[in-house]
Amino acid sequence: MQLVLDRLTKQYGTKIALDRIDAVFQPGIYGLLGANGAGKTTLLRLICDILKPTSGEARLNGKNIGELGEKYRAALGYLPQEFGFYPNFTATDFLLYMASLKGLNKRYAREKAAGLLETVGLKKEQGKKIKTFSGGMKQRLGIAQALLNDPEILILDEPTAGLDPKERVKFRNFIRAYGENKIVILSTHIVTDVEHIADEILILKDGSLVKKGTENSIISEIAGCVWECRVTKQEAIHLENTFTVCNSKSEDEKIVVRVISDQKPWKTATPVPPCLEDLYMHYFHGEGQ
Ligand SMILES: Nc1ncnc2c1ncn2[C@@H]1O[C@H](COP(=O)(O)OP(=O)(O)O)[C@@H](O)[C@H]1O
Ligand SMILES: [Mg+2]
Repeated sequence: MQLVLDRLTKQYGTKIALDRIDAVFQPGIYGLLGANGAGKTTLLRLICDILKPTSGEARLNGKNIGELGEKYRAALGYLPQEFGFYPNFTATDFLLYMASLKGLNKRYAREKAAGLLETVGLKKEQGKKIKTFSGGMKQRLGIAQALLNDPEILILDEPTAGLDPKERVKFRNFIRAYGENKIVILSTHIVTDVEHIADEILILKDGSLVKKGTENSIISEIAGCVWECRVTKQEAIHLENTFTVCNSKSEDEKIVVRVISDQKPWKTATPVPPCLEDLYMHYFHGEGQ
């Protein structure tokens, strides 16, 4: 199974939201990282054939996804970023309803829905109305509906929004297993969601793919450019105004500032190995999340 994006471009009026995106997806986990407005949702909607590209195309095993139509959709599971729920449906009703929209057999749907409610930790709440659910519970139900048809291609738009730290860990473990033989593409602006679990990271900025590859290969770009400086508060402010600062933490009376710089930024700075968060800061420094 191979999904190829070939110069995929989307314009809204005169705004180029996505500019000639090239990518190849095979079974595995792909983390689409980018700040708000980078174009993540637009890209995922194009991949799901909900939006049509202005130019370029997406192909599954060599065939245009628009032409594959229903066959393509049958292989797809999608969690949209904004998900309209039915407040008066119970969790089970909702999954059965979604299963019927997907054309799944009723008996299969019942079993599958029950299993998925267990997987996402909503078994006890299966008979409760969605309007009583927390944000995290709704999000887990959204993930469950994306999995109803055991999709070969699972597309998740900011799936961890609203999940608490424990739920995030469970989610990551689930995705790690699911991505062993399926294509999983998930978008996020939270580095830790994809760090260590993504086989490949794609960094999207202002509609362009600025970086893609394995985590180690892409962070090597800033190898030798990440430093830790133990300084006073006053000096920390100076560093923050001068360099891209990835992180600062208090230690005793001092502050340890993590800085990206081609050259040694401070006389006592020590070089440290780069991580994905550093690379993200390198690209999105100064942008809101
Ligand atoms: N329907 C639309 N009409 C016009 N502009 C849009 C529309 N949807 C998104 N955009 C713009 O396209 C850019 C990318 O948006 P989006 O794909 O939602 O990014 P992300 O999901 O990374 O936050 C943003 O500048 C956004 O304002
Ligand atoms: Mg989005």
